[in-house]
Amino acid sequence: MQIAASLLSADFMNLKTSLDRVAGVDFFHIDVMDGHFVPNLTFGPCVLKNLHQYFKTPLDVHLMVENPLFFIDLYKDLQPAFITLHLENTPHLHRSVHHIKSLGIKAGISLNPSTPLCGLDYIVQDLDLVLLMSVNPGFGGQSFLPFVLDKVKAFRARFPHYQGVLEVDGGVNAHNAPLLRACGVNMLVVGNYLFSHDNPTHALQTLRT
Ligand code: DX5
Ligand code: ZN
Repeated sequence: MQIAASLLSADFMNLKTSLDRVAGVDFFHIDVMDGHFVPNLTFGPCVLKNLHQYFKTPLDVHLMVENPLFFIDLYKDLQPAFITLHLENTPHLHRSVHHIKSLGIKAGISLNPSTPLCGLDYIVQDLDLVLLMSVNPGFGGQSFLPFVLDKVKAFRARFPHYQGVLEVDGGVNAHNAPLLRACGVNMLVVGNYLFSHDNPTHALQTLRT
Protein backbone atom coordinates (compact mmCIF):
# COMPACT_ATOMS: atom_id res chain seq x y z
CA MET A 1 0.00 0.00 0.00
CA GLN A 2 1.46 3.35 -1.03
CA ILE A 3 0.67 6.47 0.99
CA ALA A 4 0.39 10.03 -0.30
CA ALA A 5 0.27 12.73 2.40
CA SER A 6 -2.21 15.49 1.53
CA LEU A 7 -0.48 18.82 2.16
CA LEU A 8 -3.82 20.51 2.68
CA SER A 9 -3.77 19.27 6.28
CA ALA A 10 -0.18 20.33 7.01
CA ASP A 11 0.60 23.18 9.41
CA PHE A 12 1.26 26.09 7.03
CA MET A 13 2.89 28.16 9.78
CA ASN A 14 5.45 25.39 10.20
CA LEU A 15 5.37 23.71 6.85
CA LYS A 16 8.89 22.29 6.88
CA THR A 17 8.54 20.83 10.38
CA SER A 18 5.10 19.51 9.57
CA LEU A 19 6.37 17.73 6.45
CA ASP A 20 9.50 16.45 8.19
CA ARG A 21 7.17 14.64 10.60
CA VAL A 22 5.63 12.65 7.75
CA ALA A 23 8.94 11.91 5.97
CA GLY A 24 8.63 8.33 4.85
CA VAL A 25 5.44 8.78 2.85
CA ASP A 26 5.70 7.67 -0.76
CA PHE A 27 4.27 10.90 -2.23
CA PHE A 28 3.21 14.40 -1.30
CA HIS A 29 -0.37 14.81 -2.56
CA ILE A 30 -0.86 18.33 -3.92
CA ASP A 31 -4.47 19.52 -4.04
CA VAL A 32 -4.71 22.27 -6.63
CA MET A 33 -7.98 24.23 -6.35
CA ASP A 34 -9.18 27.23 -8.33
CA GLY A 35 -12.28 28.50 -6.48
CA HIS A 36 -14.44 27.51 -9.50
CA PHE A 37 -14.54 23.75 -9.86
CA VAL A 38 -14.36 23.52 -6.07
CA PRO A 39 -15.20 26.25 -3.54
CA ASN A 40 -11.67 26.68 -2.16
CA LEU A 41 -8.17 27.82 -3.05
CA THR A 42 -4.89 26.24 -2.03
CA PHE A 43 -1.24 26.78 -2.93
CA GLY A 44 0.41 27.56 -6.25
CA PRO A 45 3.56 26.44 -8.03
CA CYS A 46 5.85 29.00 -6.28
CA VAL A 47 5.30 27.45 -2.87
CA LEU A 48 5.77 23.99 -4.29
CA LYS A 49 8.97 24.96 -6.07
CA ASN A 50 10.56 25.92 -2.74
CA LEU A 51 9.29 22.82 -1.08
CA HIS A 52 10.47 20.57 -3.88
CA GLN A 53 13.99 21.96 -3.66
CA TYR A 54 14.25 20.71 -0.08
CA PHE A 55 12.12 17.56 -0.02
CA LYS A 56 12.84 14.90 -2.59
CA THR A 57 9.49 13.17 -2.04
CA PRO A 58 7.75 12.68 -5.42
CA LEU A 59 4.64 14.78 -6.05
CA ASP A 60 1.15 13.51 -6.79
CA VAL A 61 -0.72 16.51 -8.25
CA HIS A 62 -4.52 16.44 -8.05
CA LEU A 63 -6.07 19.16 -10.24
CA MET A 64 -9.51 20.28 -9.03
CA VAL A 65 -9.81 23.12 -11.52
CA GLU A 66 -11.59 24.39 -14.57
CA ASN A 67 -9.32 24.69 -17.59
CA PRO A 68 -7.01 21.82 -16.57
CA LEU A 69 -4.73 22.25 -19.61
CA PHE A 70 -3.61 25.64 -18.28
CA PHE A 71 -2.81 24.09 -14.90
CA ILE A 72 -0.91 21.15 -16.39
CA ASP A 73 1.50 23.60 -17.96
CA LEU A 74 1.78 25.56 -14.73
CA TYR A 75 2.88 22.50 -12.73
CA LYS A 76 4.86 20.55 -15.33
CA ASP A 77 8.24 22.10 -14.42
CA LEU A 78 8.03 20.50 -10.98
CA GLN A 79 8.15 17.15 -12.83
CA PRO A 80 5.57 15.49 -10.57
CA ALA A 81 5.26 11.73 -10.61
CA PHE A 82 1.53 12.03 -11.41
CA ILE A 83 -0.88 14.67 -12.63
CA THR A 84 -4.53 13.74 -12.16
CA LEU A 85 -7.45 15.45 -13.90
CA HIS A 86 -11.14 15.31 -13.04
CA LEU A 87 -13.39 13.47 -15.46
CA GLU A 88 -16.22 15.95 -14.80
CA ASN A 89 -14.45 19.06 -16.11
CA THR A 90 -12.08 17.83 -18.80
CA PRO A 91 -13.81 18.00 -22.20
CA HIS A 92 -10.89 16.57 -24.22
CA LEU A 93 -9.90 13.78 -21.89
CA HIS A 94 -7.89 11.71 -24.34
CA ARG A 95 -5.92 14.70 -25.60
CA SER A 96 -5.26 15.94 -22.06
CA VAL A 97 -4.10 12.55 -20.78
CA HIS A 98 -1.70 12.22 -23.69
CA HIS A 99 -0.47 15.77 -23.20
CA ILE A 100 0.54 14.87 -19.63
CA LYS A 101 2.27 11.71 -20.83
CA SER A 102 4.14 13.61 -23.55
CA LEU A 103 5.73 15.65 -20.72
CA GLY A 104 7.14 12.46 -19.18
CA ILE A 105 4.60 12.56 -16.33
CA LYS A 106 2.20 9.75 -15.42
CA ALA A 107 -1.46 10.56 -16.03
CA GLY A 108 -4.47 9.97 -13.82
CA ILE A 109 -8.20 10.63 -13.87
CA SER A 110 -10.28 11.34 -10.80
CA LEU A 111 -14.01 10.77 -10.28
CA ASN A 112 -16.19 12.57 -7.74
CA PRO A 113 -18.08 10.22 -5.40
CA SER A 114 -21.29 10.14 -7.46
CA THR A 115 -19.69 10.13 -10.93
CA PRO A 116 -20.32 6.75 -12.62
CA LEU A 117 -17.42 4.52 -13.63
CA CYS A 118 -18.60 4.19 -17.26
CA GLY A 119 -16.86 7.48 -18.10
CA LEU A 120 -13.58 5.56 -17.90
CA ASP A 121 -14.59 2.91 -20.46
CA TYR A 122 -12.65 4.32 -23.44
CA ILE A 123 -9.70 5.82 -21.60
CA VAL A 124 -8.81 3.42 -18.77
CA GLN A 125 -6.30 1.55 -20.93
CA ASP A 126 -4.24 4.76 -21.25
CA LEU A 127 -4.17 5.62 -17.55
CA ASP A 128 -1.41 5.23 -14.98
CA LEU A 129 -3.69 6.15 -12.08
CA VAL A 130 -7.41 6.24 -11.25
CA LEU A 131 -8.43 8.33 -8.26
CA LEU A 132 -11.81 7.65 -6.68
CA MET A 133 -12.88 10.50 -4.41
CA SER A 134 -14.37 9.40 -1.11
CA VAL A 135 -15.47 12.93 -0.14
CA ASN A 136 -16.82 15.78 -2.23
CA PRO A 137 -13.64 17.60 -3.22
CA GLY A 138 -12.71 21.00 -1.84
CA PHE A 139 -11.74 20.51 1.80
CA GLY A 140 -9.61 18.30 4.03
CA GLY A 141 -10.95 16.72 7.21
CA GLN A 142 -14.31 15.49 5.84
CA SER A 143 -15.87 12.11 6.63
CA PHE A 144 -15.31 9.13 4.37
CA LEU A 145 -18.35 8.19 2.25
CA PRO A 146 -18.78 4.43 2.82
CA PHE A 147 -20.51 3.71 -0.53
CA VAL A 148 -17.14 4.32 -2.18
CA LEU A 149 -16.12 0.84 -0.97
CA ASP A 150 -18.73 -0.60 -3.34
CA LYS A 151 -17.49 1.69 -6.07
CA VAL A 152 -13.95 0.37 -5.64
CA LYS A 153 -15.25 -3.21 -5.92
CA ALA A 154 -17.26 -2.23 -9.01
CA PHE A 155 -14.14 -0.69 -10.55
CA ARG A 156 -12.15 -3.90 -10.08
CA ALA A 157 -15.02 -5.95 -11.55
CA ARG A 158 -15.49 -3.63 -14.53
CA PHE A 159 -11.78 -3.24 -15.37
CA PRO A 160 -10.14 -6.56 -14.40
CA HIS A 161 -7.10 -5.92 -16.63
CA TYR A 162 -6.29 -2.49 -15.21
CA GLN A 163 -2.68 -2.56 -13.93
CA GLY A 164 -2.21 1.05 -12.82
CA VAL A 165 -2.57 2.72 -9.45
CA LEU A 166 -6.00 2.73 -7.82
CA GLU A 167 -6.06 5.62 -5.36
CA VAL A 168 -8.73 6.75 -2.90
CA ASP A 169 -8.81 10.28 -1.48
CA GLY A 170 -10.85 11.73 1.37
CA GLY A 171 -11.46 10.80 4.99
CA VAL A 172 -9.01 7.91 4.93
CA ASN A 173 -7.99 6.63 8.37
CA ALA A 174 -6.86 3.49 10.21
CA HIS A 175 -10.44 2.18 10.30
CA ASN A 176 -11.24 2.29 6.58
CA ALA A 177 -7.71 1.68 5.20
CA PRO A 178 -7.88 -2.13 5.63
CA LEU A 179 -11.34 -2.18 4.02
CA LEU A 180 -10.05 -0.20 1.07
CA ARG A 181 -7.07 -2.51 0.71
CA ALA A 182 -9.36 -5.55 0.77
CA CYS A 183 -11.37 -4.03 -2.10
CA GLY A 184 -8.27 -3.54 -4.25
CA VAL A 185 -6.99 -0.05 -3.51
CA ASN A 186 -3.19 0.27 -3.69
CA MET A 187 -2.63 3.94 -2.87
CA LEU A 188 -4.21 6.07 -0.15
CA VAL A 189 -4.30 9.83 0.14
CA VAL A 190 -4.22 10.75 3.81
CA GLY A 191 -4.51 14.27 5.21
CA ASN A 192 -6.15 14.94 8.53
CA TYR A 193 -5.56 11.50 10.04
CA LEU A 194 -1.83 11.66 9.39
CA PHE A 195 -1.09 15.29 10.23
CA SER A 196 -3.17 15.38 13.41
CA HIS A 197 -1.71 12.13 14.75
CA ASP A 198 0.59 12.31 17.81
CA ASN A 199 2.94 9.89 16.14
CA PRO A 200 2.78 10.14 12.33
CA THR A 201 5.41 7.41 11.89
CA HIS A 202 3.20 5.03 13.81
CA ALA A 203 0.13 6.20 11.86
CA LEU A 204 1.92 5.49 8.61
CA GLN A 205 2.87 2.01 9.73
CA THR A 206 -0.73 1.32 10.73
CA LEU A 207 -2.03 2.49 7.35
CA ARG A 208 0.49 0.40 5.46
CA THR A 209 -0.16 -2.81 7.31
C1 DX5 B 1 -10.19 16.98 -0.89
C2 DX5 B 1 -8.76 16.65 -1.22
C3 DX5 B 1 -8.14 15.62 -0.35
C4 DX5 B 1 -8.12 15.94 1.12
C5 DX5 B 1 -7.71 14.71 1.91
O1 DX5 B 1 -10.66 17.85 -1.85
O2 DX5 B 1 -8.67 16.18 -2.54
O3 DX5 B 1 -6.82 15.33 -0.81
O4 DX5 B 1 -7.28 17.01 1.43
O5 DX5 B 1 -7.66 15.07 3.25
P1 DX5 B 1 -8.39 14.20 4.38
O6 DX5 B 1 -7.61 12.91 4.48
O7 DX5 B 1 -8.26 15.07 5.58
O8 DX5 B 1 -9.81 13.98 3.94
ZN1 ZN C 1 -6.77 15.30 -3.32
